[in-house]
Amino acid sequence: MSKLSMLCAAASLLATPLFAHAGDAATKEGASAARGRYLVQISGCNDCHTPGYASGGGMVAQEQWLTGDRLGWHGPWGTTYPTNLRRYFARVSETDWLKAARAGKYRPPMPAPSLRDMSDNDLRSIYRFVHSLGAAGEEAPSYVAPGQAPAGPVVLFPMPPG
Ligand code: HEC
Repeated sequence: MSKLSMLCAAASLLATPLFAHAGDAATKEGASAARGRYLVQISGCNDCHTPGYASGGGMVAQEQWLTGDRLGWHGPWGTTYPTNLRRYFARVSETDWLKAARAGKYRPPMPAPSLRDMSDNDLRSIYRFVHSLGAAGEEAPSYVAPGQAPAGPVVLFPMPPG
């Protein structure tokens, strides 16, 4: 064996486990994102964060998923709008997302307890799926404080008596 071919053999021996490892990581990441897609579907995120999803029986193309909604939710907390999550996940890190989900400082009707009680793995999967879709669409309208009139259509929650 020439010196060169010995070197090549040694290099490929060294390189093989490295490449195999990178492949495993990519497969794991892909599996996590696929689970995230499933979690997004079964935990109702699209129902509020995707225009026309709940009312249209879920027949919305994935490209439009989680782009936020202009339909407001009006109640004693003021008027909230489902955030554009495609843009949100493009700007926050996975670590910050886990912290925010655990802190659960979301106004109604965002199901804060559902996120708070999700496992780290599930939260990471949701992040990886939505992040992989990339940013798309416009920002949702800004929060409107109680007592101020929202500009567009809203779902009205009953006000507390009195
Ligand atoms: C019943 C409607 C509803 C459902 C279901 C829902 N959301 Fe929300 N979500 C909202 C509303 C409304 C807001 C805005 C809350 C606010 O202004 O504080 C919001 C806010 C958020 C935010 C905050 C973004 C920011 O800028 O801080 C995140 C993240 C989020 N939702 C993720 C999710 C995920 C993930 C799911 C599925 C597990 C989900 N939501 C399901 C209505 C909903």
